[in-house]
Amino acid sequence: MKFFIDTANLDQIREAQQLGVLDGVTTNPSLMAKEGITGKENILKHYVDICSIVEGDVSAEVVSTDFEGMVKEGEELAALHEQIVVKVPMIKDGVKALKYFSDKGIKTNCTLVFSPGQALLAAKAGATYVSPFIGRLDDISTDGLNLIAEIRTIYDNYGFETQILAASVRHTMHVIDCAKIGSDVMTGPLSAIEGLLKHPLTDIGLEKFLADYKKGNS
Ligand code: E4P
Repeated sequence: MKFFIDTANLDQIREAQQLGVLDGVTTNPSLMAKEGITGKENILKHYVDICSIVEGDVSAEVVSTDFEGMVKEGEELAALHEQIVVKVPMIKDGVKALKYFSDKGIKTNCTLVFSPGQALLAAKAGATYVSPFIGRLDDISTDGLNLIAEIRTIYDNYGFETQILAASVRHTMHVIDCAKIGSDVMTGPLSAIEGLLKHPLTDIGLEKFLADYKKGNS
C-alpha cells in the first residue's frame, strides 16, 4: 500500500519523506488555507515546492466547478511539474473533466467520493485515483471502511486500473484496516503514519537490551 501524507505543511512533508516511507502528497484548498497559502502565484509555487521534497505524486485540486474552468486550471496545474496529479471533485462536470484529462494522459484524483456508484463513475471516466473519504463517513455514523471494501470488490470484478486512495484517514487503525481490505493508497496525517511505529513492548524490550549490553560492556 502506498503512503501519501495529507497536508500542505512543508515541514511535515519533509519529516515524512525523511522517514523513507512516503509515496506522495495530497492537498486540498482547506489544507492550503490552513498553511496561509493564498493567491494564485503563491499557490502554484507551493505545489512546486512540495514536488521538490517528495518523489511521488502530488495532488493539486482545481477550484472551478464547470468543465471549461476545470480543464483550464487542470492543464495549468499539470504543466507545473510532472509529479502533479489534478484533483477533480465528483460532480457531473468533474466526471467529464476526468475523461478529458485521462484521454490526454494527465493523471487525476477524483475527490469527495462517498458512495460505490461515484467510485464506479470515476473509474469509468479513467481516473488515476479515486478518493473515498472514510473519516467523514465515520463522522456521520456510516462505515467508511465498508465503502473501501465495496469499491475494492467492484474494481476487482472488472479489472479497473483506477487506484483506491483511502482519504480522510484520521488515525493508525484506519491505515491498518485499509491495508487489510486492499486499498491501493492511503492518505493521512503524519500522526497516523508515525502511530504505526508505536508498541510498548518494543520500548520495554529495547530498554532491556540496552541495559544488558551496558552491564557486559562497562
Ligand atoms: C483528501 O485528499 C482530502 O484532502 C482529505 O483526506 C480530507 O480529509 P479530512 O476529512 O480529514 O478533511
